[in-house]
Amino acid sequence: MTYQALHASDLAIPDGFILGAATAAYQIEGAASEDGRGPSIWDTFSHTAGTTAGGATGDVAADHYHHVTADLDLMAALHLDVYRFSISWSRVIPDGEGAVNPAGLAFYSDLIDGLLERGISPVVTLNHWDLPQTLEDKYGGWRGRETAYAFERYAELVGAALGDRVAIWSTHNEPWNNSFAGYGHGVFAPGITRHEDALKAAHHLNLAHGLAVSALRKTITKPDAKVSIVLNIFRVEPETPADEEAARRFDAVANRVFTGPVLEGAYPADLLEDTRHFTDWAFVLPGDEAICHQPIDLLGVNYYEVMHIRARNDFNPALEQAGGTEFPGSERVELFRPDGFARTAMGWTVEPRGLEDHLVALSAQYPDLPIMVMENGAAFEDEVTEVGGLPAVMDPDRTQFLIDHVTATLRARERGARIDGYLVWSLLDNFEWAAGYGPRFGIIRVDYDTLRRTPKLSAHWFAELCQTRNVPALEAKVIV
Ligand code: BGC
Repeated sequence: MTYQALHASDLAIPDGFILGAATAAYQIEGAASEDGRGPSIWDTFSHTAGTTAGGATGDVAADHYHHVTADLDLMAALHLDVYRFSISWSRVIPDGEGAVNPAGLAFYSDLIDGLLERGISPVVTLNHWDLPQTLEDKYGGWRGRETAYAFERYAELVGAALGDRVAIWSTHNEPWNNSFAGYGHGVFAPGITRHEDALKAAHHLNLAHGLAVSALRKTITKPDAKVSIVLNIFRVEPETPADEEAARRFDAVANRVFTGPVLEGAYPADLLEDTRHFTDWAFVLPGDEAICHQPIDLLGVNYYEVMHIRARNDFNPALEQAGGTEFPGSERVELFRPDGFARTAMGWTVEPRGLEDHLVALSAQYPDLPIMVMENGAAFEDEVTEVGGLPAVMDPDRTQFLIDHVTATLRARERGARIDGYLVWSLLDNFEWAAGYGPRFGIIRVDYDTLRRTPKLSAHWFAELCQTRNVPALEAKVIV
């Protein structure tokens, strides 16, 4: 028998600070072809051989579509303030821009009612990567400008249908992964490997964001509803001063390609310059940047680890790849994970200090914009055991991770950052995209054979946090 220690120091949750849990449609819903849902690019991609670990697909996932009442009851037992989920665009409009599927819309409307009945506020993402396949076929997906206009109409439709009840809207989740992983690196749907396409996709996502913000403002009726975007703005840390140029280059293509137009109204000059040999940026039309730059009420930030950066000194311009590498210019920039940090099951470094400093710096950069941590969490291996004759999942690593990152978030607030809340990724174990069902991020374990849900130790800790509104001082030993 082995023990693992847990530590926490006493910290109060400030009044009005929002606590919750997050998921995404394709990762949990299943019911991929039920009740009129059309295919998305993730259906096509995951059904293509060699794209996901073990050939995993979201056909069943956590089968949330059929377990929605039980899942709502679990959320209530966690005392969540909010639940963040995404809408599957192709469940609501099967081909992305044509007829509405009433059953799809009803699913989300009922989910929202179920949340409100339990005192939980809905936080809705419009695009968590599962673009309707028809738009990929017709317009090249996010490579096509038309997709941005289809997104505007989709936003208008759901805004009108659900905008009387949703507390916080987000246009996109992590457009970085959507564009660079999907269209440049090719490791995510739709699996395209061309850097110019990634940059086009990034621009059309920015444009779609601006169009959707205006569409939501026109249609939502809940008076205090907020409109946001969720970016995985990376915490970029060069190894030495000699690596600052590499860090600047990565920051441009990973962060400022979104924050530039969306939050400041223009693409940064250094980004345009760095990427000239991939594209002439002719897809940015006059007036586009102004459309991207709509006032928003809240900035969502997802944080998992620090991006440690150093220059690649062996860079040879002749070898610069037009696609298939992580991002344009990745031959010049090395992302590395230093020794000395614990690692999650994804191999990611555990650095709560990075989150604290990141939030402080971001809030100083955008002082008018409240920030919410829309995702933070960790994959660790866990298993179902028995405690007192009942099934239990002891996950001290994840629990300590959450303690440390909630603490880091609260410390950032104490240091003056405007932080409105913290949401754990994820409510349930789920389809971890190309990594399939191996990595488990949930605070609730899902048995993929029986679909049984078992709250983990981390869920019990999170429930106590939400209920007592205090990070309890803790010195505990957990049997693992
Ligand atoms: C995404 C989630 C994903 C999580 C862990 C974020 O990139 O928004 O969908 O499961 O990180 O990888």
